[in-house]
Amino acid sequence: MGIPVIAIDFGTSNSTVGLASPQGPRLIPLEQGQLTIPSAIFFNLEDDKVQFGREAIAAYTNHYDGRLLRSLKSVLGSSLIDESTEIGHERVSLKDIIGKFLAHLKALAQKDAGRELDEVVFGRPVWFVDGDAQLDRLAQQQLESIAKACGFKRVHFQFEPIAAALDYESRVGQEELALIADIGGGTSDFSVVRVSPQSHRKTDRRSDILANAGVHIGGTDFDKWLSLGQVMPHLGYGTHYRDRSNLELPSSPYFDLATWHRITLLYGRKSASELKEMHLLAGQPDLVHRLLRVVRERTGHQLASDVEGAKIALSSADEVSISLPYVDEHLVVAVNSRDFEQRVAALTDKIGQCIRDCVHRAGVSAEQIDTLFLTGGTSSLNFVRDACASAVPKARVVEGDKFASVGLGLAIQAGVISAQS
Ligand SMILES: Nc1ncnc2c1ncn2[C@@H]1O[C@H](COP(=O)(O)OP(=O)(O)OP(=O)(O)O)[C@@H](O)[C@H]1O
Ligand SMILES: [Mg+2]
Repeated sequence: MGIPVIAIDFGTSNSTVGLASPQGPRLIPLEQGQLTIPSAIFFNLEDDKVQFGREAIAAYTNHYDGRLLRSLKSVLGSSLIDESTEIGHERVSLKDIIGKFLAHLKALAQKDAGRELDEVVFGRPVWFVDGDAQLDRLAQQQLESIAKACGFKRVHFQFEPIAAALDYESRVGQEELALIADIGGGTSDFSVVRVSPQSHRKTDRRSDILANAGVHIGGTDFDKWLSLGQVMPHLGYGTHYRDRSNLELPSSPYFDLATWHRITLLYGRKSASELKEMHLLAGQPDLVHRLLRVVRERTGHQLASDVEGAKIALSSADEVSISLPYVDEHLVVAVNSRDFEQRVAALTDKIGQCIRDCVHRAGVSAEQIDTLFLTGGTSSLNFVRDACASAVPKARVVEGDKFASVGLGLAIQAGVISAQS
């Protein structure tokens, strides 16, 4: 085996770092022994340091003065990548912020390996930007150039569902036609792959990959629509102007507050003055006051995280109460699963449609798919699982490790690359 290659699953919500060792591919412990790290970064202005992952979220939750950023993968390929955000007295570009996070992952891998490492394989969604080949290429180039600025000399990419297929394949006992579904925080990605116990020895797998497909829908979109549907109305979303009662207040601040990677954009000076004016003209200023308070006290990520928690709890309950004292002292918002599922039904349908397209392009019938391999956190939602299963009705459903499968598959790929060099 040559020099180790680092395997990075830079996820919208969670990331992993893998290495292929003589004992086989493995994920390395990233913080407090955990094999995953939330893709979060906190610029702690009080202690003048940059924190990552759970530590970043804890510092933010404990009200340290600073700036939290999450879901940064979502800005790749969008115009936001060239934006910067105010952090203390400085403006820091989103590119540099992603760079700091990747540099942290690189340092952890090097510490584990006990040496400098400058070659990496990244997972990537089938589409960073839906159906736009040019922007999609641009997104990958952006990630590559950020990685090179962190000191990586050689940068490889592998589709996330193919990585998950490699992980699944390490456990199969016979040849199967598998639909691999990786439904994460930002995207849903699919591959139809022929897997078999012998195939992992082959270096060229192109003939076994029958089709790939993906759509930019993931758990963060479900969070957004739960928030806009059932929480943001309590902060004035959908209410009207005082003098023009047929005209709704602008929706953009609410969309920003409900969208993980846009929350920070609300914290600039320009936005503060626009919100004050909106408050003055509002027909229900008491509700809009709550929006202003969240923005002023920078509790947008706490709100997003509470909504996310409620989304997860709705998997096993019809109704969930979210206590929001930092929005308004006694505010408790009840959210229900029926309204949530209805509101995201179009997204769920698109996920099912994307699977049908993938199978169609593979040139096989849905009935020929032997196995549906599910990974990614959002595959925990029952109605999402049902949408996947109904697209391949004869398939046996196998659940992978929801947060580690892509990372482990990338570590397998890293081993193949390292052996070739
Ligand atoms: N039990 C659960 N029920 C529903 N959703 C869940 C559950 N656990 C985690 N999630 C959601 O899964 C998502 C994170 O999944 P995952 O870590 O696979 O994404 P990711 O790899 O970071 O994203 P991507 O691959 O799209 O870039 C989040 O939106 C989270 O809310
Ligand atoms: Mg993922």
